[in-house]
Amino acid sequence: MAERVYVFDTTLRDGEQSPGATMNLDEKIRMAHQLETLGVDIIEAGFPIASQGDFEAVQAIARAVKNVQVAGLCRAVKGDIDRCWEAIKDAKNPRIHTFLATSDIHMKYKLDKTADEVLIMAEKAVKHAAQYTKNVEFSAEDASRSDWDFLVKVTETVIDAGATVVNIPDTVGYTQPFEYYDMIKYLMDNVKNVDKAIISVHCHNDLGSAVANSLAAIKAGARQVECTVLGIGERAGNAALEDLVMAINTRKELYDVETGINTEQIFPSCRRLSQIIGMPIPPNKAIVGANAFAHESGVHQDGVLKNRLTYEIMTPASIGQLSNNIVIGKHSGSHAVKNKAEELGYNLTDEQVQILFKAVKDLADKKEQVFDEDVEAMILEKVYRRLDRFRLVAMSVFSGTGDVPPHAAVVMEFGREGEDIETKRISEFGEGSVDAVFQSIYSLVGVSPKLEVYSVNAVTEGSDALAGVAVRIENDGVKAVGRANDGDVVKASALAMVNALNRMEKAKEEK
Ligand code: KIV
Ligand code: ZN
Repeated sequence: MAERVYVFDTTLRDGEQSPGATMNLDEKIRMAHQLETLGVDIIEAGFPIASQGDFEAVQAIARAVKNVQVAGLCRAVKGDIDRCWEAIKDAKNPRIHTFLATSDIHMKYKLDKTADEVLIMAEKAVKHAAQYTKNVEFSAEDASRSDWDFLVKVTETVIDAGATVVNIPDTVGYTQPFEYYDMIKYLMDNVKNVDKAIISVHCHNDLGSAVANSLAAIKAGARQVECTVLGIGERAGNAALEDLVMAINTRKELYDVETGINTEQIFPSCRRLSQIIGMPIPPNKAIVGANAFAHESGVHQDGVLKNRLTYEIMTPASIGQLSNNIVIGKHSGSHAVKNKAEELGYNLTDEQVQILFKAVKDLADKKEQVFDEDVEAMILEKVYRRLDRFRLVAMSVFSGTGDVPPHAAVVMEFGREGEDIETKRISEFGEGSVDAVFQSIYSLVGVSPKLEVYSVNAVTEGSDALAGVAVRIENDGVKAVGRANDGDVVKASALAMVNALNRMEKAKEEK
């Protein structure tokens, strides 16, 4: 029987460190539930010592999911480890993940410690963590640039101290597949107690080799891979979960290992993350991009029609991308809408179903076909953001030139449910229609943030597709992202800005 490779998903920790991928608590919990459905073995939920918000998110995830291990990250010091345990201890199967750098450059310049001191620190940290749980992972940060014999020593020491998983990260995305293979093989062959732990890998994509490196490591004996949905993560990101799993499955005869991933949940998971963080899936993204199964060349089309195996190495259905996902029309009832939400992984209350039903009906009046992506966008837009403090009520925009520059009129409501609601209106000029709307919103809210990122993309196909807008703003050192979808690009922009301002307020409150 094929050996198991454990999938350690760090979308909610390393992934969230990716610029613009910040998620709030509700979004993290929704993503955690989707990861559980996807079948990952471990969810790394965050870095509890980093902030109160991180601590609460890790704790909430630990309590929310049941069929998956929950890991918290901590440096190799007592205070970090104690805080991590406090956050994860309610999980059904909690894991303490402690890390310490082992490369010469990190030990000298970052830690200002000798190799012997690092070895003692690692041992002490793991022993301390092991007093809380047997499920302890140690990561040798910047392992790929560390001395191999020192790594052997560190690995042996932490296994003796109680680590059950030892992770060998390529922290800076520097290694290459054949070199990483040799390194993992060296550890497998030279660490005396290697049979008492699982060797894990965690690869960054700075040179575009994260997935290839992880696969090479599996071939050399690694039995845990750390990865993220859509490969999001620090700098150029981490190894993409969907690429790894489909490579292992498609080339079974080569790798001879298996994972616990339900591949039909791959596309829904990628779509959910993309919707939550407002980052479109690039069309040429392996496995889940819009072009991944599209055959343009006549020769290819002809081949596929004669026998799809000529050019197709896997099917869209195997990753849960159904071709016939037109779901809701003018005549669908609320039951159909409820079922579709459940199929997409959202368990809504009756009240939420009614809100969604109305939103979907309104959309079906304007748009010929309503797809899964549209329904999911409506759930995020209309159901989950209803309780925000700032809300857009109405707006109109006027384009203009010369003495009458573009201007907008905006009406907004202020106040959460149960508070006194105040309605305010204003009209401002701007450089263009979108800018005029933004200036009006800033005046109403009483802030003047810097707009760092503004991006627009189509959520689905066709000229009546929803426009997905993402913005990132900065004010007083606090950054926030906002996203929204609407058939009208200016309105989507306004909603995204209002969303960003709500998030910014929340972030300032947390700070
Ligand atoms: O890239 C890295 O080394 C990490 C560790 C904390 C595992 O993210
Ligand atoms: Zn990392």
